[in-house]
Amino acid sequence: MRDYKDLVKVAEGAARRAAEYLRAAVRPGWQAWTEKSQHDFVTDIDRGSEALIAEQLQRNVPGSLVVGEELTPALVAQAEVVWIVDPLDGTTNFLHGYPEYAVSIGCAVGGALCAGVIHDVTRDTVYRAWTGGGAWIDKARLKVSTVTEPKRALIATGFPFRQLGTLETYLRQFAAITRDVSGIRRAGSAALDLAHVAAGNFDAFWELGLAPWDIAAGVVLIREAGGLVTRFDGNEDVLNHDNIAAGNPAMHAWLLKTLGSV
Ligand code: IPD
Ligand code: CA
Ligand code: CA
Repeated sequence: MRDYKDLVKVAEGAARRAAEYLRAAVRPGWQAWTEKSQHDFVTDIDRGSEALIAEQLQRNVPGSLVVGEELTPALVAQAEVVWIVDPLDGTTNFLHGYPEYAVSIGCAVGGALCAGVIHDVTRDTVYRAWTGGGAWIDKARLKVSTVTEPKRALIATGFPFRQLGTLETYLRQFAAITRDVSGIRRAGSAALDLAHVAAGNFDAFWELGLAPWDIAAGVVLIREAGGLVTRFDGNEDVLNHDNIAAGNPAMHAWLLKTLGSV
């Protein structure tokens, strides 16, 4: 039986080291960006961060497997302990010097998500959670918000800048949600969006086309903070799916209803 708190400590150490590396890195000029897919750029900094994280995770937990966005992206469960790593979430922000990006490390044991750490790089703030242990920022316990009325809600989202085939659907969702809420934010890091839902700063979040490393840590944070994360049909198996809705229980229910109506 693994102690989830120990796994969080290992993830926290690796995320901290990567965050230091990212803060010290010289921001690459646009000539050094590689287009991974349409509108999606990557640099040696993303890969360097992931190599540091993987080394530290596997040194501390021998036999564990790393699934990382840049170097080892296949989501396979061939080990008891699987780390799901985004070494730089918010690469576009990082490349433009917009200070909203993070390191995200989720952990699954026996196929179930059980620990998550999100390090907000520019604020040097750490969000952590483990199953049964709550969600925390430093020594403060995190709780999702108590807002129940859409008109008072601040909702986070991500635009489908890569998968343009979903743009029409997304714009219909955006219109329906915008009509009812107090505000919508698109800050550019899904991991931080989820951390802010866990912290009660955002009341809900939705996005199409996310990857496991964007959400693994955030899912644990939100669930431990009393919130819900599901597919748009309410299914809780989110790691194997890319359309995600999250929020406090009331706003999550409203979000699913609204998304289902367009
Ligand atoms: C992206 C960010 C962004 C979200 C994209 C992600 P990356 O991750 O989380 O907010 O809208 O869907 O791919 O590429 O910067 O790691
Ligand atoms: Ca990401
Ligand atoms: Ca990334």
